[in-house]
Amino acid sequence: MTPVEQVLALVRPEILALAPYSSARKESKGGRVWLDANENPETPSVHKPLLNRYPDPQPPELIAKLAALYGIAPAQALVTRGSDEGIDLLLRTFCRAGQDAILITPPTYGMYVVAAGIQNARVVSVPLIREKNFALDADAVLKSVSSEVKLVFLCSPNNPTGNLLDRAAVLRIVRSLAGKAVVAVDEAYVDFSGVPSLAAEIAANPNLVVLRTLSKAFGLAGARVGTTIADPAVIAVLQKVIAPYPVPSPVLIAALAALSADGLTAAQESVRQLVAERARLSSELPKLAAVKRVWPSDSNYLLIEVADSARAMAAGRAAGIIWRDRSKDVPNTVRITVGTAEENNSTLEVLSRV
Ligand SMILES: Cc1ncc(COP(=O)(O)O)c(C=O)c1O
Repeated sequence: MTPVEQVLALVRPEILALAPYSSARKESKGGRVWLDANENPETPSVHKPLLNRYPDPQPPELIAKLAALYGIAPAQALVTRGSDEGIDLLLRTFCRAGQDAILITPPTYGMYVVAAGIQNARVVSVPLIREKNFALDADAVLKSVSSEVKLVFLCSPNNPTGNLLDRAAVLRIVRSLAGKAVVAVDEAYVDFSGVPSLAAEIAANPNLVVLRTLSKAFGLAGARVGTTIADPAVIAVLQKVIAPYPVPSPVLIAALAALSADGLTAAQESVRQLVAERARLSSELPKLAAVKRVWPSDSNYLLIEVADSARAMAAGRAAGIIWRDRSKDVPNTVRITVGTAEENNSTLEVLSRV
């Protein structure tokens, strides 16, 4: 079997056999009079933003721009409703309900477990090494991958700890699991890290999947534009599972604007400012009596340890500032998103009084 055939052998047999939904927009392109999709010929509202037609399932102009942004081939990209949908698609595609499992490295992003729960997939946990700044324990991960584990989720930079996972360790896991499991690297925050994406490694490693999003660096969380990047054969399988129209027309307009030359420049400037503010918070927060520790961050948030997280959260709430209590993951910690300079001043001011 070729490496790609080995990955396809990991797909649930029901999905391989599935005949995907064939939408009108997939079946026919072009034409002048569209009477094939039971659409209204007009949008009868006062504003007419051309919403009477179903959108292209995977708009080629958006795919082309995302492929250029991520340095990949268009056939390696699937646009999803946020990267959350990418996570869900991977679970439903690779994990047979009640039989297969995923592996996660806690503390990490909560949606992997939620998506596994929905699919009734078991969750194997291999904690990050807290004493080594939440480093990946590659040996423990590899030891824990039984034949039931079809998917390994690695989040880099990791949420909520903020750190990048060691690239060599991630690639060692990917290579060691060739033909055994798919490794999904969630790079939602990689734009803030200054390191290149792992997407370039997919060509040599078809069991590697990379998740990207416009929600963070591009500030488009409300538009829901994620990209699952994978071998074209894997993308073709995910296409069978995804709902027919994941890119609503207004979302397409917003995404194309974000990916225009001006949009790209604006996003770069936003990342530059947030990274500078992250550095300022990282140096100012440790000076405060209430702050016991600030973990290094490659993302747009900081995990801090405080004397009493409930008290810190209450003080924030009283001042109208909402942080995230992460004590369930790491005792007495609060995760603080880097905001505008003014918002960050508020964070510092309120924490100085705790
Ligand atoms: C690590 C990680 N992955 C994925 C997501 C989901 O992002 P979205 O669905 O908005 O692309 C988030 C959101 O906070 C996240 O923290």
